[in-house]
Amino acid sequence: MALRARILGAAAGGGLPQWNCGCPNCDAARAGRIPSQTQSSLAVTGNGRDWAVLNASPDIRQQLANCPDLHPTGLREMPLRSVLVTNGDIDHVAGLLTLREAQPFALMATAAIHEVLDANPIFGALNPGLVRRETVALDRPFPLAPGLTAELFPVPGKVPLYLEGDRVETDLVGEQTVGVRLEAGGTKAFYIPGCAAVPPDLAARLAGAALVFFDGTLWRDDEMIRAGLGEKTGRRMGHISMSGPEGSIRAFAGLDVGQKVFVHMNNTNPVLDPSSPERAEAEAAGWIVGQDGLEIVP
Ligand code: MLT
Ligand code: MN
Ligand code: ZN
Repeated sequence: MALRARILGAAAGGGLPQWNCGCPNCDAARAGRIPSQTQSSLAVTGNGRDWAVLNASPDIRQQLANCPDLHPTGLREMPLRSVLVTNGDIDHVAGLLTLREAQPFALMATAAIHEVLDANPIFGALNPGLVRRETVALDRPFPLAPGLTAELFPVPGKVPLYLEGDRVETDLVGEQTVGVRLEAGGTKAFYIPGCAAVPPDLAARLAGAALVFFDGTLWRDDEMIRAGLGEKTGRRMGHISMSGPEGSIRAFAGLDVGQKVFVHMNNTNPVLDPSSPERAEAEAAGWIVGQDGLEIVP
């Protein structure tokens, strides 16, 4: 038994390149000067045979095709046992529609996220006789796949963009945005692709972990505004930034985490360019910038 994790998609919603974006990174990815990245998803196994997919991105069809461990093992036999979603965002749930071809698996989420899915009749395309919708309580370990235990815990975040009302709380702590603790054979890892801040209780939870995949959406809080691509800060989107006094690099500096891996990078994030000074700065601080297909064994 050994925990293994494979990044299926390292980018945030939109991917790299994003279809309608002409920013320097997207242009560079289109031209093949920097690697393209698909949208946010992680595959994990505790025994090398049975897999869970954390977040179902709109790119899941290609992501599964690119991952031999997740190919069919028989006519309609798959190593995929469960799909767990950490929030209701489009980049994390739209891929469920691709998984509709009469294949059994467990669809796991908190009650609040299941409510969002249940309220969208299109997800009825997942045959309820085959896809079991399992509600997961916070802070209680549960079997995610054979040989793999998980536990969900709340992290600061917000409701999905398409459910935002006039007033938006960007640091809600509850069932809308969760992190995942993974354990197999005594090895522990964390997956937190969306997170607005690292308060002391989260820092304490992560301290000493062998491996943490963490929200790497933006390098700077006002990155999208500076790029001329929108009015929102990272904070407004419910995402902590990497740099700065309140950023994730600073927040993790004293936490003694074995391997720190950024995931869910927005296409404007300069770290997506392997030759950028920001990439060098993140790596110098001990971070791995995730990329599609990267496999990590804690
Ligand atoms: C996010 O991570 O903030 C969301 O995926 C944004 C979106 O839904 O486009
Ligand atoms: Mn997202
Ligand atoms: Zn772009």
